[in-house]
Amino acid sequence: MLEKISQLTDEISALTAASLQDVEQLRIKYLGKKGAITLLMADFRNVPAESKREVGQAINQLKTLATEKINTLRETLADADSDDDAVDLTRTATPRLFGTRHPLSLVKREMLSIFASMGFTIAEGPEIEDDWHVFSSLNFPADHPARDMQDTFFISRDPADILLRTHTSSVQTRVMEKTQPPIRIVCPGRVYRNEAISARAHCFFHQVEGLYIDKNVSFADLRQVLLQFAKEMFGPETQIRLRPSYFPFTEPSAEMDISCNICGGKGCALCKGTGWVEILGCGMVDPNVLKACGIDPEVYSGYAFGMGIERIANLKYRVTDLRLFSENDVRFLHEFDAAR
Ligand code: PHE
Repeated sequence: MLEKISQLTDEISALTAASLQDVEQLRIKYLGKKGAITLLMADFRNVPAESKREVGQAINQLKTLATEKINTLRETLADADSDDDAVDLTRTATPRLFGTRHPLSLVKREMLSIFASMGFTIAEGPEIEDDWHVFSSLNFPADHPARDMQDTFFISRDPADILLRTHTSSVQTRVMEKTQPPIRIVCPGRVYRNEAISARAHCFFHQVEGLYIDKNVSFADLRQVLLQFAKEMFGPETQIRLRPSYFPFTEPSAEMDISCNICGGKGCALCKGTGWVEILGCGMVDPNVLKACGIDPEVYSGYAFGMGIERIANLKYRVTDLRLFSENDVRFLHEFDAAR
């Protein structure tokens, strides 16, 4: 019997298996109900008394050896099975995070596409400008407060006034200097004003300004274009109203309100109970401006308008703190995923 045990010990020590099924077969072969070791143990009672101790120890060792060997084989195969290199086709893919368009870009694109549908093309110009294009050509009197350091960021005073543009009307001047009418443009871009940063004001913001110059352009044309814009931007039931105002570069000038898009004109907190919210400035281009840019005011007339993109975005998306637009907080930016 000892011989049989030693033979089995050699056999079991040398065992290998290619799969978990093989391991199970081996377990049955040696440790199963009719397995070799189980049979040996059943035979144990026939061992003569004087050998029982020695044989008993040997059988126990063999059984421990077989159990451990089979467990080791099983673990090795199980480990190999969950190999990291193995491709698990049922696993969901790692989600990819896509960037989103900035809310101001979304609103700008919408504004530009509405004006494009009415025949306006896009014109752009530099953010660092000179006094002529931002102020002088636009009929600003020498003592106008915008020419003050308090309102405008100056880069240099000498030899010429170089400054950060305070409105994109400077682009209109540049186009008028180079082009004879008809001119029909919208000028999007960033502008700078020397304001303390708060929820309601920032030292930079964005504008879309428009200019149309041709023969016989009237205030009624201006009104119709702005009404169409308001309806497309804020919904077909939107109404507009024009209030007389003043800008150095337009005469007559007006400010435009739209019927409050929250309460529909009944009066709420946003419109402070009036039913109207202001969105832009506009007017007929002052003949002095046309002259300064080399366009004959006896032949041509035109209108201009200008508005802040932030203001339109606030009305559309209720962003109550202007600073959110430049903080790049992804929690804020991702709120606009769906609007992409
Ligand atoms: N340029 C003006 C501003 O920045 C807006 C405006 C443009 C007003 C054209 C009238 C006509 O506030």
